[in-house]
Amino acid sequence: MTTYAFSTESPGDVEASLLILPVFEGGDPGPGVRETGLRDAFAAAKLTGKKGETLLVTGRDGGGFAAGAALLVGVGPKAEFDITAMRRALGRAAGTARRFGSAATTFPLAFGARQATEAVQAAAEGLGLGAYRFRRYKTTSKDDDGPLETVTIVGAAKWDARAARDAVTRADVLVDAVGWARDLVNTPAGDLPPAEIAKSAKAMAKEVGLTCTIWNETQLAQGGFGGILGVGKGSVNPPRMIELTYRGTGARTAPIALTGKGIAFDSGGLSIKDAAGMETMKMDMGGAASILGTMKAIARLKVKTNVIAAIPCSENMPSGSAQKPGDVITHRGGTTSEVLNTDAEGRLVLADALAYLAEKDPVCIVDTATLTGACMIALGTDVGGAIGTSDEVAGELIRAGAATGEPIWQLPLFADYRTLIDSKVADIKNIGKRYGGAITASWFLAEFVGETPWVHLDIAGPAFSEHGNDLGPAGGTGMPVRTLVRFLQERAAAVRKR
Ligand code: BES
Ligand code: MN
Ligand code: ZN
Repeated sequence: MTTYAFSTESPGDVEASLLILPVFEGGDPGPGVRETGLRDAFAAAKLTGKKGETLLVTGRDGGGFAAGAALLVGVGPKAEFDITAMRRALGRAAGTARRFGSAATTFPLAFGARQATEAVQAAAEGLGLGAYRFRRYKTTSKDDDGPLETVTIVGAAKWDARAARDAVTRADVLVDAVGWARDLVNTPAGDLPPAEIAKSAKAMAKEVGLTCTIWNETQLAQGGFGGILGVGKGSVNPPRMIELTYRGTGARTAPIALTGKGIAFDSGGLSIKDAAGMETMKMDMGGAASILGTMKAIARLKVKTNVIAAIPCSENMPSGSAQKPGDVITHRGGTTSEVLNTDAEGRLVLADALAYLAEKDPVCIVDTATLTGACMIALGTDVGGAIGTSDEVAGELIRAGAATGEPIWQLPLFADYRTLIDSKVADIKNIGKRYGGAITASWFLAEFVGETPWVHLDIAGPAFSEHGNDLGPAGGTGMPVRTLVRFLQERAAAVRKR
């Protein structure tokens, strides 16, 4: 566990194992560089402040600073440097920070007082997220740098210290929630079947004070959840639905509803994937993990809004008991769907959860899902897709994503494509044509939300990073936990202003 702190000490006096300082391109020393006597060291090393450059100076080298060592980080031109760039630069530096065990940074001082709390939060997030590792299955500590024990964010004495301390606390909560979501995604499917995901959710709910109900397969059958059951039929690991309720103090409006795709493992079912296509499919519960992380964070942050979540968890396996192409299932609420491809399973489980949530008359519904390869074709691996019936909610999510450094782009719920999921035997079928797969999948989901404003976030790309990125190693990313928490915070603030 990392301890986060805010300090207004002079950079030269900060006692940390590693002090991380920015240098702008063109030799402009960033905050703390002059105070620590490191102004010339960077130039002497023939560095220019280009993004990605680093210089490590130990205290023994005669630096005028109390820290054990200083890491100078090139961040590119000052004019292009923003909070997202800062979060990412510190995420990259976090690997070095782990090696030293404790880190402090002056990065937020590059921003004015108006952006101070945002900058302090983002700096702490960058170091915390970048220091994440998944070592549960490593039996030796040989290649481990050790955890990051403390993170100290250095700010100006004239800043609101209480607001800054709240900002590092928020970062702490978010890093923890994202880390937990990453752990859930990274845990092999063999160790995390639906019942185990539900158990983890229940333990989290108890810890942070959320109401949690787990629906087992008998209860799901009684409730008419034919999609969740149909997808899970081929597996020896029965499905579950996790229902979580959060009541924000003083929040009197109807709840915001969340759901996330929880496919413990996606083999494709009888429409089986090839070996390469299955390699990373333990991550097909990344949507579920992101909603669980979001619920954990908002409970700890005491966000003043009401939220309900219903998270469907099934394992998609082929077997003698598996659902077959051509089968017709009946979803919660009575809509029937023809399952022409058992590998288009995410929409089948989400359909039930969306129908269930719509019954609760929420102000809006947001779902997250590693739903389609088509969305990855459209937007690549790093950008999430937003599709739905509410441009207003989509816009809020896109803006929250931009602020947190989790990019999201809107795709159209293009009306003409609705007929692509018309079925000859049931109400709808679960696949469209070859093109526009992210949109036809969304049209399937749209059948179940009624009139409730709804946005679907397709995170097939950004939920999992094959090679790692600035904010974390290869594996689950925890996207879009930080976006959703921010979205809910902004909604809560907007309601209070009205
Ligand atoms: N879980 C996959 C989508 C996916 C693919 C996520 C690759 C992350 C990486 C989903 O269940 C799936 O198999 N979708 C199919 C739908 C098709 C059969 C209509 C796809 O995208 O190919
Ligand atoms: Mn699939
Ligand atoms: Zn899937």
